Amino acid sequence: MHVGIIMDGNGRWAAAKGLPRLEGHRRGVEALRKAVRSAIELNVDYLTVYSFSTENWSRPVQEVMDLIGLLKRFIRIDLADLHKQNVRVRIIGERASLAADLKKLLDDAEDLTRSNDGLCLVVAFNYGGRQELARAMQKIAAEVRAGDLQIGDITPDLVSSRLNTADIPDPDLIIRTSGEQRLSNFLLWQAAYAELVFLPINWPDFDRAAFDTAMNEFRSRDRRFGKLNTVKANAS
Ligand code: IPE
Ligand code: IPE
Ligand code: MG
Repeated sequence: MHVGIIMDGNGRWAAAKGLPRLEGHRRGVEALRKAVRSAIELNVDYLTVYSFSTENWSRPVQEVMDLIGLLKRFIRIDLADLHKQNVRVRIIGERASLAADLKKLLDDAEDLTRSNDGLCLVVAFNYGGRQELARAMQKIAAEVRAGDLQIGDITPDLVSSRLNTADIPDPDLIIRTSGEQRLSNFLLWQAAYAELVFLPINWPDFDRAAFDTAMNEFRSRDRRFGKLNTVKANAS
């Protein structure tokens, strides 16, 4: 099973407590650690977390720097432990334009954990669904121009295979915290048949009980995939 999480509401969590937004983001990292633990306990195969969107660059420079700093810290501090827990780390999003040190950190995290076969933790960083699709279209166009592909070869499966998530199954469940009910450019193509669960809590308050609530909601859904016969969500 693949669970995606839009970790939203760090700023509002902090504001409600009269704390700076950075404190909300820090507590958000704690919630992420808990979410990874819960995912392992729940036998989730893939956990994709939205940590920084392509649109988040439009925030004040200090906040952008804080968010990137927290990602670096998370990888530096937690990578060894994740590796010990047999977690495979994957990063999706645009990487070429990132600063060299950050790019190396992300590459190294993937390399170290490449042969792990426990939970696959997919971190969506500098990620935008539309940008990912546009990059896939550029690749496909180049292949057609080179004569390696025919236009008729461009099927949905072919498009999927040119995305960052090429070898990752589509998400079954997408959870968003903070009460907002939108995808904000997260896994647009891949979410075609995902079940969406919106939780009213802010991300720093996400714990095992919240994960259970979302999973129970998911299990109660009938996934029909356009058919008439019902596929119970708990079968996936
Ligand atoms: C989620 O919390 C973290 C990121 C988007 C990087 P926000 O920072 O969006 O918090 P709110 O939505 O302002 O409360
Ligand atoms: C989505 O949250 C991005 C992440 C959680 C990383 P935002 O807070 O950026 O989304 P909007 O702006 O409310 O749609
Ligand atoms: Mg937000």
